[in-house]
Amino acid sequence: MLLDILVGLLVLLVGAIAMTGVFYCFTMVPYVPTSSKVSRQMVDFAGLKGGETVYDLGAGDARLLIEAKRVHRGITAKGYEISPVVYLLGLYHVRRSKLPIHFSFGNFFHRDVSDADCIFLYLMPEVMGKLAEKFDRELKPGTKVISNVFRFKDRSPVGTREVEWISGKRKLWMYEWPAKSS
Ligand SMILES: C[S@@+](CC[C@H](N)C(=O)[O-])C[C@H]1O[C@@H](n2cnc3c(N)ncnc32)[C@H](O)[C@@H]1O
Repeated sequence: MLLDILVGLLVLLVGAIAMTGVFYCFTMVPYVPTSSKVSRQMVDFAGLKGGETVYDLGAGDARLLIEAKRVHRGITAKGYEISPVVYLLGLYHVRRSKLPIHFSFGNFFHRDVSDADCIFLYLMPEVMGKLAEKFDRELKPGTKVISNVFRFKDRSPVGTREVEWISGKRKLWMYEWPAKSS
């Protein structure tokens, strides 16, 4: 009986890892959560106000959305996550936080984000160019975009902040859309 349960759990674990791998091949962005300390710094850096609408695109386990909503109760927090296993983990965290957060399963490239006042990103250099084109089409003037580590090539940031990382220091980049060419 115990062996059956253990084998079942092992199968589930291997399935979850395999499925995460499949979605990584598709998006080329792995699930690497921002540390709690850096999440707090990102939210602080964003200088969120009143009733702003805040997104995390590729929201992972929803920790950034939870931190933002915990500190700024007036905001609307929204996020998309494409990897099913990671999404379920995020959904669990959102439910446990008891905070009203719009956390959805899906590909953010297929969702409209034109209501954003602030967008958090922690993705990969490969997708930043395509995302800049999406932002050029959709974002209203003055929308803040905060990217952890990776910058937009050929776009000028309006601010940076250095944060502690496991291996030394990394940067947060702040852009204001429409971001000027550098
Ligand atoms: C590096 S993790 C960051 C997670 C979270 N934003 C954080 O800072 O803790 C990037 C996440 O983006 C997700 N992702 C990548 N491409 C995506 C897409 N097109 N649509 C939705 N989610 C995506 C990945 O599955 C992964 O969980």
